[in-house]
Amino acid sequence: MCGTDIAGGGLSRRTFLRGGLAMGGLVAAASLPAVADEPSTFPGQHKRGRISLGLHHIEAGASKPFSVLHISDTHLTAAYPHEDEKKQALKKARTNGFGGRQEDALRNSLAFARKNVDYVLHTGDLIDWQSEANFDLVRKYYGEGGAAMFGALGNHEFSRYMWMEKTPPGQAAAYRKKSCELLSAAFPFDISLASSVVNGVNFVSMDDTAGTVTPEQVERFGAEVKKGLPIILCMHVPLYTPYIWRASCKFWAKDGARFRSADVPDATGDYRVQLRDKVTQAFIASLKAEPLLKGILVGHLHFDVQDRFSPTAMEYVVGGNYLFHGQELLIS
Ligand SMILES: [Fe+2]
Repeated sequence: MCGTDIAGGGLSRRTFLRGGLAMGGLVAAASLPAVADEPSTFPGQHKRGRISLGLHHIEAGASKPFSVLHISDTHLTAAYPHEDEKKQALKKARTNGFGGRQEDALRNSLAFARKNVDYVLHTGDLIDWQSEANFDLVRKYYGEGGAAMFGALGNHEFSRYMWMEKTPPGQAAAYRKKSCELLSAAFPFDISLASSVVNGVNFVSMDDTAGTVTPEQVERFGAEVKKGLPIILCMHVPLYTPYIWRASCKFWAKDGARFRSADVPDATGDYRVQLRDKVTQAFIASLKAEPLLKGILVGHLHFDVQDRFSPTAMEYVVGGNYLFHGQELLIS
């Protein structure tokens, strides 16, 4: 008989295709051949490199069109041999967890950016946890971003030992202060709030890694609004809409949790913190009414999703860069 045995159970390629077409071209995921579980390889390199790219257009009112490569969540997992045992254990476990190609993915992204865009924006979790080796990589890549590289911090930038260390009671503020000192020394921007104006568009990055913003940040954001320029807000944690929250719950659900209800799940984690924090809620309300806000660029979720945030702004969540992913924003 002709045809290849795909499923290993006697199903020929011809029968398989006929079955798929009979269902209108859709193939039930449950009946996919076992070959779908085999790891993929890169047999060659496309002329645009290995980056998998989404494209969006923001009409912000720029004086001249330009584009930005937005990447997030690279999760670099480096540690020098002299760093302590816990860092070595994290390096082993987390490099395995993220696939071990994170730096390669970042290099491919930056190589694409050098040739094809004007700026690079990284919205956090560039490193998976704090180490001397990871901080050296931060300095290295922010130093060679091709065009200018701008950014925001992620929650992982604040992690010293991830699950291996519990913050002692009463020490959270001291630990955060120490992290801020280390991060401020490694990242080339004001980690609380920074502004970078490109062709008349004000990119404002803010640290919202706790899920919230502070009164001081709100005051500083107000000063940015007073500049009168269109604003693109860049952060790590999304300002959740019910749509983005539902998508997040689906993505992060345990394996096998198929989509069976369009109800929006109860808010937990970052979303619940956002909803309960009065300063953050007031900030979100003022943002929704701010006509100068033209877009929000965030990461954290490790998958792509977009939703309308306000009458003038869409929110774009970009997936994990450790999977060679990014999005290009065409801004006019
Ligand atoms: Fe992340």
